[in-house]
Amino acid sequence: MATQNIYILGIESSCDDTAAAVMHNGRILSNVIANQKIHEEYGGVVPELASRAHQQNIVPVVHQALKKAGITKEQLHAIAFTKGPGLMGSLLVGTSFAKSLAYGLNIPLIDVNHMQGHILAHFIDEEGFDKPPFPFLAMTISGGHTQIVRCDSYFEMTVIGETIDDAVGEAFDKSGKILGLGYPAGPEIDKRAKLGNPQAFKFTKPKVDGLNFSFSGLKTAILYFIQNETKKNSNFVEENLNDICASIQYTIIGILIDKLKKASKETGIKHIAIGGGVSANSGIRQALKDGEKKFGWTTYVPKFEFTTDNAAMIAIVGHLKYLENEFADQSVAASARLKI
Ligand code: KG4
Ligand code: ZN
Repeated sequence: MATQNIYILGIESSCDDTAAAVMHNGRILSNVIANQKIHEEYGGVVPELASRAHQQNIVPVVHQALKKAGITKEQLHAIAFTKGPGLMGSLLVGTSFAKSLAYGLNIPLIDVNHMQGHILAHFIDEEGFDKPPFPFLAMTISGGHTQIVRCDSYFEMTVIGETIDDAVGEAFDKSGKILGLGYPAGPEIDKRAKLGNPQAFKFTKPKVDGLNFSFSGLKTAILYFIQNETKKNSNFVEENLNDICASIQYTIIGILIDKLKKASKETGIKHIAIGGGVSANSGIRQALKDGEKKFGWTTYVPKFEFTTDNAAMIAIVGHLKYLENEFADQSVAASARLKI
């Protein structure tokens, strides 16, 4: 990728994970994440608690990333950090820290869009993982995002579809909450779905124009369905949990694949890259594989640790921007609603 010796520190703090990673010429030397367990008790991320935990974690996490990479901070060429989108209190911690460190070391500062990070994570040099060729379609699916992006080059990206309400991960997590599962419920629904019948119960898919998504109606439909059924049989959920999970997952995957099909047809692009925590879902992975046979797609899923929120994806954007001399100055500010 590069002939120079470039060391980049990436810092990510947009939601509830404090993360730091060191990259050397496009390869990851360390990728450290402090997850915030505190939110599990609340069934979702509590912004106030998230910023406090970032404050506690940021210095130890960066220390550990440098130590694991086997370099000192003086060897760094630039600091890349998440400018947005995300929770303002969380973003402020990473942004302020990155600015101070870059200032102290007198090295360039690089601001990174978190959503571009999820997409450009596909360009981290990693054995066994192919990089998608341009143009490709990127679908980012997580607890905070649901987007389809047309990518024509590293920095020419166009959002062609996104959720108008909940993110797909929220659809999993909120459905799980209705069923009495822990948070986050996505992995548990995935596990149970493998043991259930996806056709057991039918949930109507939302009708949303174009390539946009909507998941809040599905959540309400599931709530009413469960309330109705438990009125007739108070053990309905316990007796049918695997089938309910399989049916919910089947519906959600159907929604995602329908929009991908439409996007691929409209753009004529058959290279499809996914990212975000929900890309761990075994059903969506299978559906993408099926899409290779049925629609001639080539699909790309990054290494798992680069799909959920992480700083390696921030470091790769930093690396690519460094090569273009695209730096931020010390007046840069976090932006909660930053667009691609
Ligand atoms: O990317 P991520 O770690 O954090 C952000 O939200 O940014 O994604 C977390 C989301 C949660 O909603 C979780 O329920 C979902 O990803 N998730 C899954 C699976 N693993 C994680 N959803 C469905 N199936 C899975 N196997
Ligand atoms: Zn994310």
